[in-house]
Parts: sequence; C-alpha cells; structure tokens
Amino acid sequence: EQINKGNYEHYMQKEIHEQPESLKTTMSGRLIRGGSCKAKTVLLGGLKDHFKTIRRSRRIVFIGCGTSYNAALAARPILEELSGVPVTMEIASDLLDRQGPIYREDTAVFVSQSGETADTLHALEYALENGALCVGITNTVGSAIARLTHCGVHINAGAEIGVASTKAYTSQIVVMAMLALAIGGDAISSQTRREAIIDGLFDLPNKVREVLKLDQEMKDLAKLLIAEQSLLVFGRGYNYATALEGALKVKEVALMHSEGMLAGEMKHGPLALVDENLTIIVIATRDSCFSKQQSVIQQLHARKGRLIVMCSKGDAVSACPGGFGRVIEVPQVEDCLQPVINIVPLQLLAYHLTVLRGYNVDQPRNLAKSVTTQ
Ligand code: G6P
Repeated sequence: EQINKGNYEHYMQKEIHEQPESLKTTMSGRLIRGGSCKAKTVLLGGLKDHFKTIRRSRRIVFIGCGTSYNAALAARPILEELSGVPVTMEIASDLLDRQGPIYREDTAVFVSQSGETADTLHALEYALENGALCVGITNTVGSAIARLTHCGVHINAGAEIGVASTKAYTSQIVVMAMLALAIGGDAISSQTRREAIIDGLFDLPNKVREVLKLDQEMKDLAKLLIAEQSLLVFGRGYNYATALEGALKVKEVALMHSEGMLAGEMKHGPLALVDENLTIIVIATRDSCFSKQQSVIQQLHARKGRLIVMCSKGDAVSACPGGFGRVIEVPQVEDCLQPVINIVPLQLLAYHLTVLRGYNVDQPRNLAKSVTTQ
C-alpha cells in the first residue's frame, strides 16, 4: 500500500484529495446493479449471517469517539428511516462513565478508524459482557476491535496517516449508509428511496471530485479567517454531524476555537454570542430542514453575525437573500449522502487555515492518531 505523500505537501491534504478513490474502494463489490442496469442492492459479506438478528434487535447503539462518532451521527437518520429499529448514539467514554444500559437484545456497532481506541475497545468489552451482538466498522484489518467483535465491515479507505481523520470519515458514512440499505432489506415501501440512494452512491465519487474544486476558494476563505478567535458551525438534521465534524477539524489542526452546534438549539443560548465580531458557518443545503435553516440565517443576520452559508449549487439567492454573507455552493446529492459532500470544503478550510497559521498539519500538538490509553 502506497503511503508516501505523492505530489502533496501533507498527508492530510493527500487524504482529502484522495476521497473520490477511497470512496470507490469502500463501495467496491458491495453495490450491485440489477439486469436492467438499475442499481438494486447492497452486499456486506461480513454481516450476511447476522441481518436477521440485527433486524430483530431492540435497538442499534452506535459507539465511537471523535470523528468516528460524528460519522455515526451523520448516518443515524438514514439508519432510523430504513432499518425500522430505534438507533441511539454513545460516546464510548461517556457510556463507560455511566455504565449505561446495554442489553442482550441490542446490536452495538463500534466505529473506529484505527480499531484500537482504548475507550471504544473498553466499551466493546463491556457490551460483550452484557451479551449484545457486537459489530465492528473499522479501517484496520486485524485490529483489536475487528478481532473482538462478532462480525463487521471494513471500510477499506486505505491507510490514513494524518492525525485529523478525513477520508476515513467519508468512507465510514458510506459504509453506514450501505448498512442501512442492507438492514432495510427489500421492503417494497422503500424501494424507490433505496434505489435513489444506491444510484447516489455510485455517483458519489464524481460529486466529491466536483466539490474538491473548491480548494482555491477555501484557501481564499482561510486567508480571511486566519486571525479569528472563534468559528461557529451550525447544522441540523443530516448535517448536524457536518457541523460537529467541521468544527472538530478546525480546532484539531488549525488550533482555533470552533464549535459545531445544532441549529435548532440556537435560541437556547448560542444566539447570545452573535454580533458583528462572530463568524458563523451555516450548513443550508437542500433537504427537509432547508426552510428552518433559512430562518436561522435570517435571525443570525439580524444580529449582524458574519455569515458563511453552505448551500446547494444555484441556491445562493434562496439561502442568502440580499447577498449578505459569503456563500459556498456545493453539488447536491441524495439528502442522506449530503454529509459526505458538505464536509469536504470544511476539511479544505481547516487544512488551509492550519498551513496559513503555521501549525503542524499532520501531527497537531497534544494529539495522537490512535488514543490507546484511557
Ligand atoms: C483520535 C484521533 C481522531 C479520531 C479519534 C477516534 O482522537 O485524533 O482523529 O477520530 O481518535 O479514533 P478511531 O481510530 O477510534 O476512529
């Protein structure tokens, strides 16, 4: 496996730009088109003997840390929609702190790029003791989490060297979208939706290639934001995770204070922070939450917040009427796959901010790629 930087200056940069290929590898052999040339079905060999149990489970619990947790959060809505099983989320350390309930009727899904994160591994041991069916989603064949889970899926994103996870995040989301499709089975009621998602998955690498063309635009934006004290990111629905993950990238590598926030909570505190000195990125691509995000944008504008709005291509006027604020236009895809597209400009922004601020891109101070102590 090639793990040099090629023509790139940093691993993080290489891994961001590699995403059209890493996503293809993740999906390779797992998406099946039917005879009529229509996309039809998903094959996840590592889980094939367990789908019955998963469908019958009392709930599906996703467990992870950092970016892996955010990826599960991004996939949660589509899992809820297609699986028909309640889906809950646990940050591994918090589950352990609380010794939260895990039942034998649960399916516990452990998401970890490295497969070695201590908190996630301990949560796995805890779930095994409690008798849950344990599923691993990792990028590392032979890792502790891959070995100790009952079954699982490798994301096959290729080695990720940069401490800040980028390509693993998008591959994790795609694997969990495929998991949702596979658990959903062949229910007639959701057939049209499933086929649209599978078609969307086939086309996703092309759309990621398209969004990567924003590289220079994100570099220009980074120049404007270089001296900010703080950067808020507001998202909701499918893109709540995008807000968390975008802010995590900025704080991890650019060492700038940044928080991802649920836009629905704006009025319950964050709004007090907003004035002409605060920069806020609002994710407002087209989905069922769009009109609510339009209203959030209006309210932030009324408080003179400095807005950067991420919207679907051609949607700048509806998302940001009156031309206030800066707009990042991204290709639109099926709503549940949109987080894969929307995170890319934020990865690029975090990368360029880091380089411009003169920090270590691939090994930010105080952080480790794999946290193997609790
Ligand atoms: C560390 C890394 C993060 C990663 C997290 C979880 O904090 O710096 O990039 O998201 O661990 O790692 P895992 O390997 O379990 O996905």
